[in-house]
Amino acid sequence: MSQNKVVVITGASSGIGEASARLLAQNGFQVFGGVRNPQRVNAIPGVRYGTADVTDDASVSDFVQWVLSEAGKIDILINNAGVSLVGPVENTSVSEAQTVFDTNLFGPLRMIRAVLPSMRAARSGLIINVSSVLGFLPAPFMGIYASSKHALEGLSESLDHEIREFNVRVVLLEPTFTNTKLDVNAAQTEMPLGVYATQADATIKAVQAQIRTAPSPLAVAEKILAVINGPYRMRQPAGGQATLLSRLRRFMPANAVDSSLRKTFGFGKRSTS
Ligand SMILES: NC(=O)c1ccc[n+]([C@@H]2O[C@H](COP(=O)([O-])OP(=O)(O)OC[C@H]3O[C@@H](n4cnc5c(N)ncnc54)[C@H](OP(=O)(O)O)[C@@H]3O)[C@@H](O)[C@H]2O)c1
Repeated sequence: MSQNKVVVITGASSGIGEASARLLAQNGFQVFGGVRNPQRVNAIPGVRYGTADVTDDASVSDFVQWVLSEAGKIDILINNAGVSLVGPVENTSVSEAQTVFDTNLFGPLRMIRAVLPSMRAARSGLIINVSSVLGFLPAPFMGIYASSKHALEGLSESLDHEIREFNVRVVLLEPTFTNTKLDVNAAQTEMPLGVYATQADATIKAVQAQIRTAPSPLAVAEKILAVINGPYRMRQPAGGQATLLSRLRRFMPANAVDSSLRKTFGFGKRSTS
């Protein structure tokens, strides 16, 4: 069934994108990876790479036109490229926040706008937006990242209503901490941490410790494959912990979720009131 399916994945140069490109190619999909620098990728058999900087309209448009000219169609779009930003919300400049949104929200928007006309014409398609558990949970000292993923969730759920009649659906893939370079690559807010320094350091250490022992990106890639091959569901937490967090968010009292999150993010007991 996968033999003729054409998949486009952004951010295919590392982490979840690279693992997904490899696994989908191994499973017979025609995979086109969008990367910022095709010269720097570790080539994967069965994956073809093109330049796609998701913050650049022309780059996205050229990339999608290239895939369509090579493959004639795009069955599945995986909006995976993403960046993170660490720092207190108060210390974040609007331009720093805009940079994150330009990749994490407007990047998918650019890709969707470029790909949808061909999917609508074919009356078939699947768009998988790689969100995060931080698309439905808060994240102290990653507030801009979390808000970009919350925004992606709102965009995805709204879009799904608009395009369903064309037989195109949108999925939100929601991984929890995954052992990739996302946190290493994360920018830090330029302004000194100031009054937030002690707590921000504790939170950053707690997050880094979680990522070191987190599942590999292959686990998320396997979830993406299962999403493509399985029955449609809008929200797809990736892995046991993400599923648990998704259920906790929906069914647990808000104060219990709040306390548990504060523990995860390295906050002491005294500041919970
Ligand atoms: N790791 C986690 O704990 C975690 C948890 C939940 C969700 N996620 C999400 O998973 C996705 C993949 O992240 P990852 O963990 O695999 O991190 P990663 O290893 O840092 O990969 C991020 C990818 O995005 C690409 N990228 C960044 N800016 C781009 C741009 N402007 N245009 C095109 N590509 C760009 C990077 O390309 P370059 O090589 O060119 O930099 C890289 O391939 C992200 O959307 C992230 O938010 C990750």
